[in-house]
Amino acid sequence: MRVLLIGSGGREHAIAQKIAESQKLTKFFCFPGNPGIESLAEKAQCDDSIDSIALWAKENAIDLIVSGPETYLVAGLADEAAKFGIPVFGPTKKGAMLEGSKDFSKQFMKKYNVPTAGFNVFTDYDDAVTFIKSLKKYPTVIKADGLAAGKGVKIALNEKEALHTLQDYMIDNTLGKSGNKIVIEEFMTGEEMSVFYLTDGKKFVQLIAAKDYKRAYDNDQGDNTGGMGCYAPHNSLTQKLKEKIESDVMPGIIKGFQNENFDYRGVLYVGLMLTNEGPKVVEFNCRFGDPETQGIMPLIDNDLLEIFYQSATGNLQFNEVQWKNEYAVSVVIASAGYPAQYEKGKKISFQTSMKDYIHAGTAFMHGEIVTNGGRVLNAVATAKTKEEALQKAYKLATQVSFEGSFYRKDIGS
Ligand code: AMP
Ligand code: GLY
Repeated sequence: MRVLLIGSGGREHAIAQKIAESQKLTKFFCFPGNPGIESLAEKAQCDDSIDSIALWAKENAIDLIVSGPETYLVAGLADEAAKFGIPVFGPTKKGAMLEGSKDFSKQFMKKYNVPTAGFNVFTDYDDAVTFIKSLKKYPTVIKADGLAAGKGVKIALNEKEALHTLQDYMIDNTLGKSGNKIVIEEFMTGEEMSVFYLTDGKKFVQLIAAKDYKRAYDNDQGDNTGGMGCYAPHNSLTQKLKEKIESDVMPGIIKGFQNENFDYRGVLYVGLMLTNEGPKVVEFNCRFGDPETQGIMPLIDNDLLEIFYQSATGNLQFNEVQWKNEYAVSVVIASAGYPAQYEKGKKISFQTSMKDYIHAGTAFMHGEIVTNGGRVLNAVATAKTKEEALQKAYKLATQVSFEGSFYRKDIGS
């Protein structure tokens, strides 16, 4: 099978490692890639647009496109590739709207009785201000409707913060068009957990969960990030909770997928809040989580390419994924200043080899590997126990450095 993997982060490098193991792989391409991914796959010579990617895939007889990031899917990569009969692991534009529009996903949940926070949608700034001024309860949650690279959610602690956010999103357009429409939501409390389902639109196969550490610093201090590390499987996803999700959350989702004809092929990321009233959906994503994927991929005991191909062709034939009886830990090594401003282009010194790491924000420059993002590398290890996996991952984390590098010391706690 000739495969093209889209994306350039740690998530995609973890997927690439697993695809590279497949007996079915004959030729492996990537775009845009990074030095880690490019050690396994050849870079496709296309432009960064869905038209160019789909055309290149056709001209190069690609059998399967796998998209890591949501942006290409929300833009319609799967629809474009379908014109040439190329299957994509990742939903078409319609299904990707579950991530691409908060309004769309909330209306979907409401229509199919999927438990979620109460909400109101506004396109008019004055209406939103009137609503905020009538609110008695804080915190309240304000979300930009469109994609915002993790910057579109504000938990406002009081009226002043809420009004400031409305001004930001709707008048000053700090998030561009994404903030033209907003969703104001009830604030939920509880532990957060993300569960992933592989699906061909009809069958849903649950994967193990990974615990993501969202804040920048130890003990959940500092700003929210994309995720600073993870371990898998997540201790809190007990059999009882699995059953609760299956009985209370999934039936509405499955019914909705069928009624709305999503023909959804790929992964559905269900972000949950485990509230006192039971699990409620915080958000849907149409792609794998990062860094959760770095913890999940090494534990899969199946041929990943086979699973992805079955899903992408609407023909998922297995009921569960086989898992190794091990733990995986991933520690993110980040640039000073992340998730706010940070510098790029710092030379990375590896005590062992660059191949011992999952690459997230790295690049080649004058024959050296340098930093090229906020989250730079992942130190990933697996072992029979969580403690051993932690020890191995942290040993790797100490064996690499660049100016200003930092990582959380409490992953796994
Ligand atoms: P989202 O992009 O919708 O996942 O929101 C990002 C983060 O904001 C979530 O992971 C939660 O930590 C928080 N969040 C979003 N919606 C709510 C809500 N209704 N109540 C409490 N926290 C929320
Ligand atoms: N780690 C959270 C996400 O990928 O959205």
